[in-house]
Amino acid sequence: MVIMTSSLTFEPVLERIAEEIEHTPGRGRPADYIPALAAGDPRRFGMAVAEVDGTVYGVGDWREPFSTQSVTKVFTLALDLAREGDELWAHVGREPSGNAFNSLVQLEYEDGIPRNPFINAGALVVTDRLLTRTGDAAGTLLDFLRTESGNGALDFDLEVAASETAHGDRNAALAHFMASYGNIHNPVPLLLDQYFKQCSVRASCADLALATAFLARHGVRADGSRLFTRSQAKQVNAVMLTCGTYDAAGDFAYRVGLPGKSGVGGGIVAVVPGRCTLCVWSPGLDDRGNSVAGVAALDRFTTLTGLSVF
Ligand code: DON
Repeated sequence: MVIMTSSLTFEPVLERIAEEIEHTPGRGRPADYIPALAAGDPRRFGMAVAEVDGTVYGVGDWREPFSTQSVTKVFTLALDLAREGDELWAHVGREPSGNAFNSLVQLEYEDGIPRNPFINAGALVVTDRLLTRTGDAAGTLLDFLRTESGNGALDFDLEVAASETAHGDRNAALAHFMASYGNIHNPVPLLLDQYFKQCSVRASCADLALATAFLARHGVRADGSRLFTRSQAKQVNAVMLTCGTYDAAGDFAYRVGLPGKSGVGGGIVAVVPGRCTLCVWSPGLDDRGNSVAGVAALDRFTTLTGLSVF
């Protein structure tokens, strides 16, 4: 049953989803390979919807800041694509990997070219290229998030970044390996510092739903200026749909039917092109690194509203 398609407010559907999630057992486990995230409480849940005009609705912990982690990969991809355009795709692919987000296995037989910009290897390539173009990839990202969300208080969480640096052997291995193929151009320690800062940004569901809205507006930023072309917005949304939730992207497309991007802090952003953006947060993850309650809530949202790309 579709309970709304174009009503004035998303609040009733958000309330209903929160109520259902509240009574759903089995919320997964917080990421513990980054010790600073291990204390996340799987009972926490927030959800926000931002309409393309900037109106934002929410339920639960929707104004609580959390660690954005891989959700930031959407923004660094968009910021780099806006600067270098299609040249990027010579250095990172756009196919689902079918492997874990931090896997090394494909890199050797695919000559140091990561499958897509959302697995860690691909995100490292994007951040490296954005760093070359801007001198400060993490700072460029933070400026963009502050401007698009309207929240100038957004910031890095240097404790989380330090925690990841201290346990960053896997990402360091990925970066050094790609450097050996000439696909990383900055010194690896500098790149890792930028990447871990990028991942550490704290933001709420409200902040992230608003910051993602340029993808629902086909590339147009909050101030009405254009970040990139309508076609590039379509490309980023398409890569989110096929690769944004890693080796669960097929199941996510099946259940939710929207472009989405997850992070191991428990956040997921999703886009209804031309209409609205969503962000959900709950720290309990499944074994692929996606928020259990977050995916369930997005599944319910598209089922109840009929708002999906299909
Ligand atoms: O590099 C990492 O492993 C983390 N900073 C980000 C991974 C992540 O969020 C994957 N998403 N589900």
